[in-house]
Amino acid sequence: MTQEELIKRINELKRAKNAIILAHNYELGEIQDIADFCGDSLELSIKAANTDNDLIVFCGVRFMAETAKMLSPDKKVILPVAHATCEMAEMIDGEQLRAIKKEYPNSITVAYVNSTAETKAECDLCVTSSNALKIIASLPKDKHVIFVPDRNLGSYCKEQTNHSNMYLYDGFCPVHDRLTVEVLKKRKAEFPNAEVLIHPESRKELVELADHALSTGKILTYVRESDKKEFIIVTEIGILHRLEKENPDKKFIPISCEAVCPHMKLIRLENVLEALEKEENEIILDKEIMEKAAKPIRAMLDLSK
Ligand code: 13P
Ligand code: SF4
Repeated sequence: MTQEELIKRINELKRAKNAIILAHNYELGEIQDIADFCGDSLELSIKAANTDNDLIVFCGVRFMAETAKMLSPDKKVILPVAHATCEMAEMIDGEQLRAIKKEYPNSITVAYVNSTAETKAECDLCVTSSNALKIIASLPKDKHVIFVPDRNLGSYCKEQTNHSNMYLYDGFCPVHDRLTVEVLKKRKAEFPNAEVLIHPESRKELVELADHALSTGKILTYVRESDKKEFIIVTEIGILHRLEKENPDKKFIPISCEAVCPHMKLIRLENVLEALEKEENEIILDKEIMEKAAKPIRAMLDLSK
């Protein structure tokens, strides 16, 4: 089938089945282009919670599709490639978190949304990179906070909000964590007029060299509203697709062509078509875990309003 035929068939099936295609900003360009909505983790959660569609085809990684299912438990949610996972989310499980909670009783337990359903089920609150600062800043300073799994986002929040009473789990995103100060300094020297926009999953030393630390959705909004013409983008390169498409008069310099999340590149048009045709790879969660995990997500959505 040609790409055109694939897209035509996807659109026909989407209408026939009252389906919606949601895609994360790191997905391949061909997927972002056929999606009904592209966004960051928070924007996608809000969209999933408010959709009337019967079927959600979620083009992203597993924790995102699971979040959509928790927020729309009566809908069918499909992750077109079942093994598209987030490496950071897999770095902690429920048992490890329960052991930490035992060590620090009476803490508020906060999970970055890049976590498994089992981890979320142990938490009081979730955050995304878009609302983490606001939510952590709203917590009582005298209350101890356990933050999992991202040590980089956690330490950024700890520092920016002066919430010194925080335990940070030692998880990280391999794609962001391996970016180096040397490479960023080199880019800055090459493009001295460019503004540096960074994702807060990056290491502290890099965040300190950047102009703004933002979620992928906020990077897109910031660029759209800025008068500046050049930007060094310190995050996964999939975001360049929308940045370039939406801002043809601006120049984007990726931090490195190696900043690629392999899991975000697994879904192709063929997989989306197959998902619509066969409705396999449905997200099925244990009912009790799902109900428990939905609570911190809903609490986050309330605090984000
Ligand atoms: P955003 O919520 O900022 O899109 O980030 C998700 C993610 O996985 C970043 O690596
Ligand atoms: Fe997870 Fe990192 Fe990939 Fe984002 S870029 S989905 S945090 S592994």
